Amino acid sequence: MRSDIEQVLLTEEQIAVRVRELGKEISRDYAGKDLVLVGILRGAVVFLADLYRQISIPAGMDFVAISSYGKEALSSGVVRILKDLDEVVESRHVLLVEDIVDSGLTLQYLMDNVASLRVCTLLDKPSRRQVPVELDYVGFQVPDEFLVGYGLDYSQRYRNLPYIAVLKRDIYGGHS
Ligand code: PRP
Repeated sequence: MRSDIEQVLLTEEQIAVRVRELGKEISRDYAGKDLVLVGILRGAVVFLADLYRQISIPAGMDFVAISSYGKEALSSGVVRILKDLDEVVESRHVLLVEDIVDSGLTLQYLMDNVASLRVCTLLDKPSRRQVPVELDYVGFQVPDEFLVGYGLDYSQRYRNLPYIAVLKRDIYGGHS
């Protein structure tokens, strides 16, 4: 175990099993439909890459990025789309892919600005919700801990850990 990791919350194996299940469920639900997975940069990249390969029906992939002026900017609407969709999504079925839903502000912003879509998030942290959001596919519900790995970062580090872990409090200073 690394010295900066307090505890592994979800192992590589647990994540792989759940991602396979989600892939099967999504493939069933969208059979015969023109599906495009849309990842929200950057955290969702790792999950999306694995989920995409577990989907057995034809599907496209695209990404959006929104400016990070902080979560306060999100709630006040002072936000910019830094990278918009490249693919044409009109008349297609969009599945938004997130690594984690925390306050719900990122999702709420996107849902208000993109028409007709569903959401698949690997992690859901309901205890931190500030706005109600509807999640269609959830990998795991997680406790209110500072999580890193499998796309989740602290200061842009730890995204490449194959597991999801609780970061030691003295590394991030106790505030999330
Ligand atoms: C994280 C995560 C989600 C968002 C969830 O992104 O990837 O997009 O926060 O939090 P919320 O529900 O409170 O809005 P972050 O802004 O840290 O950027 P990153 O994906 O580049 O790490």
